[in-house]
Amino acid sequence: MSATEEETQSSVHTPVLLHEVITFLNPQPGDFIIDGTVDGGGHAAAIAERIGSGGTLLGLDWDEQLLERTRARFASQKNVKLMHGNYAELPEVLATENNLNRTDRSLADGLLIDLGFSSEQLEASGRGFSFGEARANEPLLMTYDDSRTPVWQILREEDEKSLANIIYEFGGERMSRQIAKAIKDHGRKHPIMTAGELADVVRETLPGKYEHGRIDPATRTFQAFRIYANGELENLTTLLKNLSDMVKPGGRVAIISFHSAEDGIVKRAFQSLAKETKIEIITKKPVEGTREEIRENPRSRSAKIRAAKII
Ligand SMILES: C[S@@+](CC[C@H](N)C(=O)[O-])C[C@H]1O[C@@H](n2cnc3c(N)ncnc32)[C@H](O)[C@@H]1O
Repeated sequence: MSATEEETQSSVHTPVLLHEVITFLNPQPGDFIIDGTVDGGGHAAAIAERIGSGGTLLGLDWDEQLLERTRARFASQKNVKLMHGNYAELPEVLATENNLNRTDRSLADGLLIDLGFSSEQLEASGRGFSFGEARANEPLLMTYDDSRTPVWQILREEDEKSLANIIYEFGGERMSRQIAKAIKDHGRKHPIMTAGELADVVRETLPGKYEHGRIDPATRTFQAFRIYANGELENLTTLLKNLSDMVKPGGRVAIISFHSAEDGIVKRAFQSLAKETKIEIITKKPVEGTREEIRENPRSRSAKIRAAKII
């Protein structure tokens, strides 16, 4: 997530770096491609068109509610299979899943991961992802899946020091200690249960001229709790460790990230896998959106894609 995403209030999620995804994954008719973060299916639709009726697109998402709408979108497309789950568990899914209608249960020709959350989740999930006024009354869950501990409970159960660490580590927020203290002080009088309550506590704690008004003071704190609550960096690390259990030799992997912690994990994992001659890096540097894309889809402003080929 990024300030950019929070600022973007379009209700339809436009896939980012679509041209680059197609170029790097290079899906061919008959291919088996996995979209590990299928969401509303923006990238998936373009991939499904290229692999044709003889191919299979396996789309996975951790957000069951959202997946229901995606199922309706692809109901008539036999080459698209949608499943609820965590992409970190994809090797197990591939090993056990018999419903893919594939005789060989093969590894994929390509894997796409588009990290973070979508415009739909921000605006229509009712799960408290947004610090905007319009969604201030939403319960402070910020989880994609109900198996995770909601943020309101994290705020209650973790001590002040641990909250400060979360806000600093996953949000890069320099005022983390002050915010953690304010959360705990407020919580003793009135537990924080909604997105608006957390946003207000942060705003009241930070100086008026925070970041020269460039971003909402709650931006980094919201990012931190969303990443922590969903174990986002752990999921990414697990995925990167197991690439060869999902993608066949010669197959391609493309990962889109939205902030430096995610991109750093992808960069380091790719470097060490390349050293072990397990992958060949396709993108020496991360590729960003063109000026035109950024103008048309502000969410792409902080997006970076890295791609590799499995050896
Ligand atoms: C940025 S959106 C993907 C948008 C999609 N590529 C498109 O163009 O429509 C990210 C999606 O990843 C899902 N997600 C986040 N963490 C996940 C995980 N560990 N496993 C599966 N899906 C996850 C979110 O629920 C969200 O739907």
